[in-house]
Amino acid sequence: MQDELRDHLITEEPYYQSTADEVELYEAAYSVRMPMMLKGPTGCGKTRFVEHMAWKLRKPLITVSCNEDMTASDLVGRYLLDANGTRWQDGPLTQAARHGAICYLDEIVEARQDTTVVIHPLTDNRRMLPLEKKGEMVEAHPDFQVVISYNPGYQSLMKDLKESTKQRFGALDFNYPDHATETRIVVHEGGVNEDMASKLVSVAERARNLKGHGLDEGISTRMLVYAASLIAKGVAPLAACRMALVRPITDDPDMRDALDSAVTTFF
Ligand SMILES: Nc1ncnc2c1ncn2[C@@H]1O[C@H](COP(=O)(O)OP(=O)(O)O)[C@@H](O)[C@H]1O
Ligand SMILES: [Mg+2]
Repeated sequence: MQDELRDHLITEEPYYQSTADEVELYEAAYSVRMPMMLKGPTGCGKTRFVEHMAWKLRKPLITVSCNEDMTASDLVGRYLLDANGTRWQDGPLTQAARHGAICYLDEIVEARQDTTVVIHPLTDNRRMLPLEKKGEMVEAHPDFQVVISYNPGYQSLMKDLKESTKQRFGALDFNYPDHATETRIVVHEGGVNEDMASKLVSVAERARNLKGHGLDEGISTRMLVYAASLIAKGVAPLAACRMALVRPITDDPDMRDALDSAVTTFF
């Protein structure tokens, strides 16, 4: 690893509770530098998993949160004007490829397809990145790997990955953990006791059953951690659940009632 990436090394272990054999599978994928796609609903641990794996493999991690205004230049780099004229600045993808980091493109479907295609030459056996404006061909460092996250729930014709993009990746499915595992996560991350965490998880499980029956997404682990953190600060559980679990996910009065009554069952 080179000095350029020292700031991107994760020195303290990010807490990650594994749910199946994803750690071993990812290690195998990294060992052959297979580009990886982490699929699953928002807030179920994908980002935390990548941070944990980068720490475990002792590789620097460069994360890019994708959005629809992002251009290929934002990933690859551009010429900047300064006092001495123009100077090339590598974008995060180029920096990772050149110096050997794991490049994590979070919520990749948020980016436009004409932006996403810049990763193509890096994700097949070429492992190259052409910098057209600069007239340079960057050969990826041996440690370089691309990881993307992808929420299949958002899938629509307008917002989906091209088939030619998908087929360059190995994929791991992520989902909300089982009750005991999720309880452990909420205890650790939210600072509440096991009994409280378990009740919060039960509320989420009720809500997840309503997915597709008027709810687009269930209550995520991330939301449970928020609710738990409020409770740990002294907020009454009922109010914490309303604010962190119910109000954010629906504006529909009937759905709010249904979720509020699930909350009152437990608190
Ligand atoms: N398996 C897990 N181990 C540890 N923490 C988790 C796990 N799953 C979810 N979390 C918690 O939920 C939060 C949201 O997870 P995150 O990785 O940001 O979700 P995603 O990237 O899938 O949207 C994390 O900050 C962490 O507190
Ligand atoms: Mg994420």
